[in-house]
Amino acid sequence: MSKDIKILAIESSCDETAAAVVVNGRKVLSNVISSQIDIHKKFGGVVPEIASRKHIENIALVVKDAIEEAGIELNDIDAVGVTYGPGLVGALLVGLQYAKGLAYSINKPLIGVNHIEGHISANFIQYPDLKPPFACLVVSGGHTFIVYMKDYGEFEVLGQTRDDAAGEAFDKIARAIGLGYPGGPKIQEMAKSGDENAIEFPRAKFHDNSLDFSFSGVKSAVLNYLNTMNMQEKEINRADVAASFQKNVVDVLVDNTIKACKIKKISRIAIAGGVASNSFLRKRMIKSGKENGIEILFPEPILCTDNAAMIGSAAYFEFKKGNIAPLDLNAIPNLKLGER
Ligand code: KG4
Ligand code: ZN
Repeated sequence: MSKDIKILAIESSCDETAAAVVVNGRKVLSNVISSQIDIHKKFGGVVPEIASRKHIENIALVVKDAIEEAGIELNDIDAVGVTYGPGLVGALLVGLQYAKGLAYSINKPLIGVNHIEGHISANFIQYPDLKPPFACLVVSGGHTFIVYMKDYGEFEVLGQTRDDAAGEAFDKIARAIGLGYPGGPKIQEMAKSGDENAIEFPRAKFHDNSLDFSFSGVKSAVLNYLNTMNMQEKEINRADVAASFQKNVVDVLVDNTIKACKIKKISRIAIAGGVASNSFLRKRMIKSGKENGIEILFPEPILCTDNAAMIGSAAYFEFKKGNIAPLDLNAIPNLKLGER
């Protein structure tokens, strides 16, 4: 039997400072997340400069906690994995510089991880026997993609958003109806008491074979609806707005992903990213999967939103391929999936 590989992983691409210890890309020994949500919600969204400063304050403690909770010594780890893009450059640099210093000081390899690949890899933790190929719908605050994961670290993008990400749309609409940041979980909660068929918002349509998304249209339509109602001094039913908006976005996500699987003859879909924790999306995906003979997988919610365990999983598969990063690795804010 080959030796277990323990990876210490660090994630700081947005507003969570996170560190985790993961064995063989599948087993989580610790998963520590220090969220800055309470700080940013006063501003209605993430303030990059504040995020960087908070990462600097938190990173050393978060890493120390991850090592302690895993019940190991720093020298027991085999490599340091770290997110180096995509994300906010100042935020990424904090985790990256810390990881480099740590890897150098204990003389262990450094592995640069793509944040999106990390989100997809959360599924390898949830399903320890899962292997590529499969399709993945990645839906987060900054990204909306349908990808085909051919093999570990090998991706073909089948569809993507042409404007806003799905999570970004949730956050903007939540702000417009006075729910605050982050919008996704709040819209989900409010939608429970609303009628999803109350208001018909438009859906973007591209040519028949396109698997792309666009959420700027539905976003503007909701904002126009709210303005019109206000001007006419009519009462707004926020639960109906939340439910109708959520249904609109989820329908498009599910329909396009199922269409992608039919075109590509793929029989398994994983979902990933913060929006993948949305219970309505999960339900709709399962239902549509059943109707079309497609298996649906998703990680538990704590592995959907930003965390370092998913980075530790992706780092392991890069490590196995020999993708060791140089110590002058830089942060790449717009790093593409599959690029190094
Ligand atoms: O993956 P993530 O934590 O960070 C990025 O990489 O962007 O995703 C955060 C996004 C936010 O836009 C948040 O509103 C959304 O995920 N989100 C949700 C839910 N939980 C988080 N959206 C819809 N429903 C949820 N339950
Ligand atoms: Zn993320």
